[in-house]
Amino acid sequence: MRTPLSTSAAADSQFIYLTCQRGAEPALKREMARRRPDFRFSYSRPGFLTFKLPRSISLEKRLAIDVPALRSVFARSCVHSLGRVSGKDFDSEDFDLGQAVKRVWELAAREFEKDGNPKLSRVHVYERDRFDVGTREFEPGLTDCAFDIHRAIYETAPENVRVAFGSNADRLDAPGELGEVCLDVAIVEKDEFYVGFHRVVDAHSRYPGGLFPMALPTDAASRAFLKFEEGLRWANFPIGTGSRCVDIGASPGGGSQALLARGAEVLGVDPAEIDPRVLANPNFTHLRGKINQLKRRLFRKSRWFLTDMNVAPQYTLDALEEIVNRDDIAARGLLFTLKLFDWKLAENIPEYLARVKSWGFNRVKARQLQFNRQEIMVAALKKPFYH
Ligand SMILES: C[S@@+](CC[C@H](N)C(=O)[O-])C[C@H]1O[C@@H](n2cnc3c(N)ncnc32)[C@H](O)[C@@H]1O
Repeated sequence: MRTPLSTSAAADSQFIYLTCQRGAEPALKREMARRRPDFRFSYSRPGFLTFKLPRSISLEKRLAIDVPALRSVFARSCVHSLGRVSGKDFDSEDFDLGQAVKRVWELAAREFEKDGNPKLSRVHVYERDRFDVGTREFEPGLTDCAFDIHRAIYETAPENVRVAFGSNADRLDAPGELGEVCLDVAIVEKDEFYVGFHRVVDAHSRYPGGLFPMALPTDAASRAFLKFEEGLRWANFPIGTGSRCVDIGASPGGGSQALLARGAEVLGVDPAEIDPRVLANPNFTHLRGKINQLKRRLFRKSRWFLTDMNVAPQYTLDALEEIVNRDDIAARGLLFTLKLFDWKLAENIPEYLARVKSWGFNRVKARQLQFNRQEIMVAALKKPFYH
């Protein structure tokens, strides 16, 4: 392992840091080597990686490098480093939060007090994932520690910075507005923060570390509610009242609940039982059986196909291809998980996405969502001519 980037190194060279699910670091490193071989891997901790940019570029150009521009599947957030704040830099034995916060604002001032540079709109604080996904029921999200440290940083913001803050900047879980520039503080160790900045460009970058402040509702049929709720916000499909959807691998029904909450009509395909609370919704119909056992005419009016089957990616893609390529089915959008039973399958993602594009979907993207486990979500849309 190389040494972490120090404040002095950061002054000479420019770095980005990426956060990801714990365990996804090798997949993210390979993805970066493929997409941006000119970015040199520098340092990593579980769920956190840094890369050195090939040359110094202007602040505006740095802001244009983000997760969508990198076309990264595994990065949750992409941040431009301003430097590191480490307990080891201070004299006191215990980590002194007051000193650390002061140092955060000193690093921020280097870039953001220069004339002509954008103003900071809010402060994003987050911890790298504490555990591997699924361990001890761990769900990635904003932690109490992140809220506490955010308060300490927010309350000590210099007056000239604070006046430019966006609405609800006092709340860590308030979404940023598109175009805003946020100061990032990633808590990588208890006594080590990485400070940087990013621009809000999409649903995920509105939130600290790309982490939606979402909790599983008490009446959710399964935790899959969270991944489809996140997936639907990310995909931004126009699914609303009366939208006709098919949920393949629907049992027990959390994903269908995310659709039903939008007023959609859902055909839930699964040989297994559906939660009675989902069955009780008049907009839900259970088609009991495996997808290849059902008559295709049942789907003629459906436009949106979601799938979350615990099967190999090849099987999911074969099942979807057979449906969307039929002349009597006019699919507009797909939202589906691909299970990476083996991390080696991550190498095939470009091929999987090319296959989906070949079915006539002109907008295809993939992301390992916050609520995905060892899997990714794919969103595919046939964009109509009038957009
Ligand atoms: C991870 S669970 C789905 C969770 C569900 N999406 C939710 O929101 O609660 C996977 C489901 O896929 C179903 N499944 C597996 N193969 C299938 C097939 N060929 N056709 C339909 N469902 C299938 C399984 O029965 C299982 O219920």
